[in-house]
Amino acid sequence: MKLNQEEQAMLEGEQGEATQKAMEILVALGKIYGAERMLPVTSVQIAGVSYDNLGEAGLHFLNNMAEGGGKARVLTTLNPAGMDVENWESLGIGRDFAEKQNQVIQAFSRMNVITTCTCTPYLSGNVPHFGEHIAWAESSAVCYANSVIGARTNREGGPSALAAALTGRTPAYGMHLDEARKAGILVEVKAVLHENDDFGAMGKAIGDQLQGMESKPIPYVRGVSGASLEQLKSFSASLATYGGAALFHMEGVTPEAVRYEPPLGSISISDIDIERAKEELIDGDSAEADFVTLGCPHLSLKEIARIAELLEGKQVVKEFWITSARPTKQIADRMGYTATIEASGAKFATDTCCVVAPIKGRFNTMVTDSAKACYYASAKNEFKTIIKPFDDVVLSATAEGGRRSGK
Ligand code: F3S
Repeated sequence: MKLNQEEQAMLEGEQGEATQKAMEILVALGKIYGAERMLPVTSVQIAGVSYDNLGEAGLHFLNNMAEGGGKARVLTTLNPAGMDVENWESLGIGRDFAEKQNQVIQAFSRMNVITTCTCTPYLSGNVPHFGEHIAWAESSAVCYANSVIGARTNREGGPSALAAALTGRTPAYGMHLDEARKAGILVEVKAVLHENDDFGAMGKAIGDQLQGMESKPIPYVRGVSGASLEQLKSFSASLATYGGAALFHMEGVTPEAVRYEPPLGSISISDIDIERAKEELIDGDSAEADFVTLGCPHLSLKEIARIAELLEGKQVVKEFWITSARPTKQIADRMGYTATIEASGAKFATDTCCVVAPIKGRFNTMVTDSAKACYYASAKNEFKTIIKPFDDVVLSATAEGGRRSGK
């Protein structure tokens, strides 16, 4: 691998111990993937922030990097942590866990990382532009950034994303190169899609088919007449979860679709496929639903406004978590949405989410609009799941919605 003078100096330890370790990680990664050089990055997003996933070993690594003088050289934000850093007690998080989680966040802060904890950094000021090389780690955000924004990132692990932050570099391979971004399979969508959960179900239906293919081709999606930011974040999250995809092209929607020819081999997605994907995400009974959550990926302001509208004057009768980035919530505070939502008894779970918080086994059945949340609620937290359209999820938390729903 060719390194320029500055990169070589980092590798030789001339810019401190942590920078040296970071460059060693990137060089090793570059060698594995056959990268010939480093690329400068403009933005980093680090995953592996929850103490639930990091444990003592991860915290120790972060403290070492901070003590070794590591400082982020480019705009760097964090993925969700294991708790709302202000409101953890009301979410039932224990004091010991909170102390450890705060130590994790402090370690990042000492390295000049902006401690906004969100999987939608593109809604909170960490927004790359088309063609920029970045190093992001959260799979849904990676898929969104590559596909919807047209920025370029591999799916980084926690250490490699931190290494990119401390050096401002990433090895030139994979999604950074034109060759790897070519569409490999045409997906003809014949289904009519309305809501986030339809897009999430489509991500699962396509992802399940991609998983069975050895080459893991990049999908070129045709037949979707339009999609909102919220629908695209839902689709990105689901396609990444079920298909391991870091990129898709959507004709008439994403910016690079015009650059690559639609490939010849195709699969098609019908209304039946969407319904089947949803049925596979429902193994719980509404009568036993005791946990309701929205915000996987983290909610936009528009979605929070809609929740406030639906909950105005109502009371929730179930544990209801609304997960978003703190900057988004701060605008919601100013707009009065937070007051309306909290008056209903629903809770903001800012900085965190239903997957990375330490809530394994705490609930029986979760209701959500997110196909990704269903996957992890079942696999990680051992909850039963029910997927519904956004408005129905909100109403299912209220006494009235609870009575109406039945399975
Ligand atoms: Fe974000 Fe947590 Fe879902 S990190 S994409 S809300 S699993």
